[in-house]
Amino acid sequence: MKRNTFIFTTVGLCCAIFDTSAWSVNNFLMTGPKAYLTYSTSVSVGAHSGIEECKHQFNWERWNCPESALQLSTHNRLRSATRETSFVHAISSAGVMYTLTRNCSMGDFDNCGCDDSRNGRVGGRGWVWGGCSDNVEFGERISKLFVDGLETGQDARALMNLHNNEAGRLAVKEMMKRTCKCHGVSGSCSIQTCWLQLAEFREIGNYLKIKYDQAQKLEMDKRRMRAGNSADSRRTTVETFSNVLTTELVFLEDSPNYCMRNASLGLHGTEGRECLQGGKNLSQWERRSCRRLCTECGLRIEERKIEVVTNCHCKFRWCCVVNCLDCKQTVTKYYCSGRRAMSNKTRRRNRGPKR
Ligand SMILES: *[C@@H]1O[C@H](CO)[C@@H](O)[C@H](O)[C@H]1NC(C)=O
Ligand SMILES: *[C@@H]1O[C@H](CO)[C@@H](O)[C@H](O)[C@H]1NC(C)=O
Ligand SMILES: *[C@@H]1O[C@H](CO)[C@@H](O)[C@H](O)[C@H]1NC(C)=O
Ligand SMILES: *[C@@H]1O[C@H](CO)[C@@H](O)[C@H](O)[C@H]1NC(C)=O
Repeated sequence: MKRNTFIFTTVGLCCAIFDTSAWSVNNFLMTGPKAYLTYSTSVSVGAHSGIEECKHQFNWERWNCPESALQLSTHNRLRSATRETSFVHAISSAGVMYTLTRNCSMGDFDNCGCDDSRNGRVGGRGWVWGGCSDNVEFGERISKLFVDGLETGQDARALMNLHNNEAGRLAVKEMMKRTCKCHGVSGSCSIQTCWLQLAEFREIGNYLKIKYDQAQKLEMDKRRMRAGNSADSRRTTVETFSNVLTTELVFLEDSPNYCMRNASLGLHGTEGRECLQGGKNLSQWERRSCRRLCTECGLRIEERKIEVVTNCHCKFRWCCVVNCLDCKQTVTKYYCSGRRAMSNKTRRRNRGPKR
């Protein structure tokens, strides 16, 4: 079941990213169809890993990075400009840059390799640059071309997306780590060579999740924008964005109430979602998941006993078979379910939007 969903996501993203009309605008920037083909797998693998990370980071949140959120292309009329949109853009753009950079260091592309531009220079006390630094400049350049190329508009939303794409790419750079190797007489480590290496993508996800929590809402002066001519209003918009650090995520609209199903926004609501309860090893955040997803959304927590079959009592028989028994095990899972059990009063009290 999981696997099917996974494949579906890949297809969805491939087509959002490679929307043909979006691509054609951008096409002339590359040296032709060959360049497009060279990087296209990487770009779509990268966008996909961004989305997987999004799903991980938002696993126990009301908004859990649903498919409907993943339309990066401006051609999607539904696109929103919420805090969540800002994360989707940053993490996708980071994912694309990350994969391109990694591919480059692995020697997957003819025209690119490690960044050895600093090699041989002294980097600091006791160390010199050496080895294979990940070529983030390459990853940055190509991913910018592909991902930013999807933004064809000039309005505040387009600027917001471009800003968050950039923040995602900066996160990849920001998180790079210096890795060193010792040299010197019998491993004395009197001198080291060091290079810069990409962090684990998970760390970039964690970092951007914090940026998401701190994201800034930009208030566009709608009246002034309407009153002025379009060049004026564009200048005002650009100015508003230039006041924000590129490392920070920005958004324009408040989030809708993610508790509630809203078909026109493509939101499923939290009814039917699984949450975690009672596990010994849960983080604070996980431990509160039933409250956040169910109770505070006016839903009740339903306990379901589910029988799972696992391989157990496996025995190795010489030679060479493994015999196992099927063991049935009952696990308890928790889900948010219908509003029936709630009184009208309680329901009203819990209705307020809450992140
Ligand atoms: C880039 O890396 C990804 C995963 O690491 C891999 O699936 C893909 O095939 C690589 N792309 C190229 C062009 O080698
Ligand atoms: C869905 O969201 C839109 C926009 O926020 C809102 O106007 C509409 O009332 C919502 N619909 C429902 C059924 O909540
Ligand atoms: C509990 O969490 C720790 C660290 O996250 C992990 O090392 C350990 O294996 C977990 N224990 C169980 C029973 O899952
Ligand atoms: C809840 O309120 C509605 C009207 O607001 C009423 O029709 C319904 O009977 C109430 N349900 C309960 C369980 O009190």
